[in-house]
Amino acid sequence: MRMSEVLRQLRQEQQVTGARPRLLDRFASFLPVTDATPRISLGEGFTPLIHARTLGRVIGCPLLHLKVEGQNPTGSFKDRGMVLAVAKAMEEGSRAIVCASTGNTAASAAAYGAHAGMDVVVVLPRGQVAAGKLLQAQAAGARVIAVNGGFDVAFRAVRQLVEEADSAHPVTLVNSVNPFRLEGQKTAAFELCEDLAGAPDYLAIPVGNAGNITAYWQGFTEYRAAGLVETAPAMLGLQAEGAAPLVLGHPVDEPQTVATAIRIGSPASGDRALRARDESGGRIDTVSDDEILDAYRDLARYEGIFCEPASAASVAGVRKLAAEGAIDPGATIVCVLTGHGLKDPDTARREAAAAPMEADATSAGLRRALGW
Ligand code: F0G
Repeated sequence: MRMSEVLRQLRQEQQVTGARPRLLDRFASFLPVTDATPRISLGEGFTPLIHARTLGRVIGCPLLHLKVEGQNPTGSFKDRGMVLAVAKAMEEGSRAIVCASTGNTAASAAAYGAHAGMDVVVVLPRGQVAAGKLLQAQAAGARVIAVNGGFDVAFRAVRQLVEEADSAHPVTLVNSVNPFRLEGQKTAAFELCEDLAGAPDYLAIPVGNAGNITAYWQGFTEYRAAGLVETAPAMLGLQAEGAAPLVLGHPVDEPQTVATAIRIGSPASGDRALRARDESGGRIDTVSDDEILDAYRDLARYEGIFCEPASAASVAGVRKLAAEGAIDPGATIVCVLTGHGLKDPDTARREAAAAPMEADATSAGLRRALGW
């Protein structure tokens, strides 16, 4: 199908509205959308904000809330930004998108690119991408390229590819340096302000390239400037130990990379994350793998929320800061859970799954297995 035909069809579909609003429509007045922007949607956004009563009690923060971004169409927060980045790429007549990724950006780009009828190229650090994320990109028909090295090496190569692109291979970069990505991602801050009927006191969020913390801060400040909320939260950015420490601000050449956490050697939006910290009176801190995995298991067991390990850095950080007395226990806290637990079945099997019991297929057999 020709691109103009795809655009025409999408504009027609704009007239047909389902019960669930489209993110690009719902927040259009805060987004760089025009009449010419195709309002594509895979059902992104409008994710639940859940009051985690049990886990909140356990860690001493009774007003702990969770923004469950794993419930986006491809199972991560990336979809909020990707829907806009891809819509704008279509509007500008682009035919292909490319990204480097530890997996979630790739899965999201592959899905929205497929939906838009575009070519998708994703460049991944070999051997470092969780099984679910890789399969998502492959299933959606993206061209997947594995390279030796970590995310930073892959990102450098992709950036250069885009800079050197000629008219024979025009391509749009959809990493979070694409400004439309962060514009879309800021909508999560709008949603949680609406759910709480105000801004929380703290917003805790995992930090990789620092795009998402930048996007949330932009969202909070825009809602405050528009008079929709009176306050903005203190931003708590949690990095995995082994990433380039933003507190020091210098890049790490070869960040240690395991599936547990997102470790970026040179965070693309590092400066803006530091500004968010300073303007909000927040902090950037680190959490260890063990702290992340404890939070990951507890989220599933106490609250029934299975997130991917990297996401649990937000809860691990709040637990650590609360134990240090650095957080007011009466505060309203929102932890962002950035991705779904099914993304990474290997870590789940290793860290969170008890082996099934064996039993004969009879009630007596079940009773014996259960010790009843
Ligand atoms: N949480 C998850 C589950 C992620 O996949 C990422 C980033 C982050 C947090 C950090 O967000 O980079 O905006 O600070 N994943 C990127 C990717 C690197 O390629 O999917 P950030």
